[in-house]
Amino acid sequence: MTKLSPSVLSADFAKLGADCRAVLDAGADMIHFDVMDGHFVNNLSFGLPVLEGLRKALPDAFFDVHLMITDPLAYVGEFAAAGASCITFHVEANSDIAATIAAIRALDCGAGLSLNPVTPVESLFPYLDDLALVLVMGVTPGHGGQPFQPSALEKLRKLRSECQRRGIHPDLSVDGGVKYATTAPLCVEAGATVLVAGSAVFCAEDIAAAVREFKSL
Ligand code: DX5
Ligand code: ZN
Repeated sequence: MTKLSPSVLSADFAKLGADCRAVLDAGADMIHFDVMDGHFVNNLSFGLPVLEGLRKALPDAFFDVHLMITDPLAYVGEFAAAGASCITFHVEANSDIAATIAAIRALDCGAGLSLNPVTPVESLFPYLDDLALVLVMGVTPGHGGQPFQPSALEKLRKLRSECQRRGIHPDLSVDGGVKYATTAPLCVEAGATVLVAGSAVFCAEDIAAAVREFKSL
């Protein structure tokens, strides 16, 4: 069954813990935690103390941390200590990619690698064997609520066939513009095993009902 990772970027920060509890109780598999540094992307979000607080409030939750930051290698240790379960960073970042993956794995976290819509999917291939997760961006990262770019579907298909060829099974996740009535089924059909959704979950009138819609796909 396809997993759902609601992105708290679109949550109500005045009741972040309660909103996370609500999506997990409704059947979400994990919490997607978007970290932005105002440099790798032109926006700032939240960071270590917020993750630490959520980890304390939700000790059993799986935190799917997405680092949209210029130098992930400098921070992976602190994000693991703050409660990350899986840490994803970008192939476009400045850190050494192989060294960053190795550092995340040495911290007992799953390592994830992401790519922007303009980046060819083959840029991930040298690292695929060491990844727990690949995160295909359906939008240029930085903001929630943007329209899905269909080029993500072709990337998912290529990743699925390359993983099949190698006999490996990393999660294939897709992030940005994922809506249960429209783009989510196309992503699943193209090979996505994890759907990241921010506004489609947290801006819904009934958050739990939105989670159930995704989980019924
Ligand atoms: C975008 C973030 C996403 C964002 C998705 O930079 O990485 O996780 O929250 O938001 P929606 O689902 O609204 O496109
Ligand atoms: Zn994200």
